[in-house]
Amino acid sequence: MTSLLIVHIDQIATPTGKSQRHGVEMNEISLVQDGAIYVVDDLIISVGKTSEILADLRKKNITAFDEVIDATGQAVVPGFVDSHTHFLFAGYRVEEFYERVSGSSYMEIMENGGGIQATVEATREAGFEELKKLGWRRLNEMIIQGVTTVEGKSGYGLDKETEIRQLRVLQELAVSQPVDLAITYLGAHAVPLEFKNDSEGYLNYMIDEILPQIKAEKLAEFVDVFCDEGVFDYQQSQKLLEAAKELGFKVKMHADEIANLNGAELAASIEATSADHLINISSEEIKKLSEKQKTVATLLPCTAFCLQENFAPARELIDNNCAVALASDYNPGSSFTCSIPLIIALASFKMKMTMGEVLTGLTLNGAAALDIADKKGSIEVGKVADLVFLKYPDYRYLMYNTGSNVVNRVIKSGKVVF
Ligand code: NIG
Ligand code: FE
Repeated sequence: MTSLLIVHIDQIATPTGKSQRHGVEMNEISLVQDGAIYVVDDLIISVGKTSEILADLRKKNITAFDEVIDATGQAVVPGFVDSHTHFLFAGYRVEEFYERVSGSSYMEIMENGGGIQATVEATREAGFEELKKLGWRRLNEMIIQGVTTVEGKSGYGLDKETEIRQLRVLQELAVSQPVDLAITYLGAHAVPLEFKNDSEGYLNYMIDEILPQIKAEKLAEFVDVFCDEGVFDYQQSQKLLEAAKELGFKVKMHADEIANLNGAELAASIEATSADHLINISSEEIKKLSEKQKTVATLLPCTAFCLQENFAPARELIDNNCAVALASDYNPGSSFTCSIPLIIALASFKMKMTMGEVLTGLTLNGAAALDIADKKGSIEVGKVADLVFLKYPDYRYLMYNTGSNVVNRVIKSGKVVF
């Protein structure tokens, strides 16, 4: 047993609850001034005012601790959950970035053999150890920004061998790295060249050959699909996700990103854990998500920014009571960044989310988008001790100190990792 006592925290700022926050509740942040958190092993045992926590510990005769941290001058918030990333890839696409800056669209580049296909070629060539090294380095970059849980997708192999290799590397990183990983199979990221003009054939290959093996080897928890024009349409996405659910996977969707194929409507009706991107979601779909309350709307503002697209209608979603999460979409094409400060700045200034909504979107609702809000995403008794210390005494400096990393220290499962 290892114990950790953190005292004199200027401000503990956290959403509360064990499931997704409805839009109207997202702005509610619980604040404790001069707070303390008592942690045993990886769990939060008590949280409250320093004076009360100390009195309570004395009463229980608990007077020795393995570590005591005085957090005077600092605010503490829950560890951030980056609930949508493609961080495991080989190769870069800097030329494509320049083409995009000078006016080519993401889809034009993809149709000309660039885009996802270029990363697929590089990733197929990369071995297990090389991918692991790249993944490790990128997770470290995330930890220092306060990220304690990351979702990672496959989707840069498309063939069975490389997809399985990507998933195995993710599994290996999950046990060898401090960050918690949620793992997603995204074979339906693009139609590979081997199945050119036969997306139906590729769909059947995934359903018949790949999904059963991933399930049998427990390599992924979620299945995702890029439902968009020129990729997988509504019926194909439905067929894949229904087959995945049948096998016991939870499902996610890249929905309404470039074009509106009614993807968010499908996500709501199939009860996907999350519907992601939603740049072109319709008001009818927003109503549907709101009525069902099963699917978290995950917004990826860095992608909209880098593709120079509109931002997803965060206000309309929240004002219609949808639970919104924020994530990076870290990938080598549409969003080559895992910057939490950039997400925060764009969500605040471009999507008009309040500071409380941004914090909930990055913590509790990110956890809900991975179906782990019962264990993570807030600073509450019984939850995992994933804590981020800020250089300032108030969580609102996350937004105010624009574009800057204000993280001072990170605790993951009760251990200092940064
Ligand atoms: O979420 N939209 C599809 N997939 C990624 C981009 C992947 C890539 O360009 O490599 C996204 O934007
Ligand atoms: Fe994505």
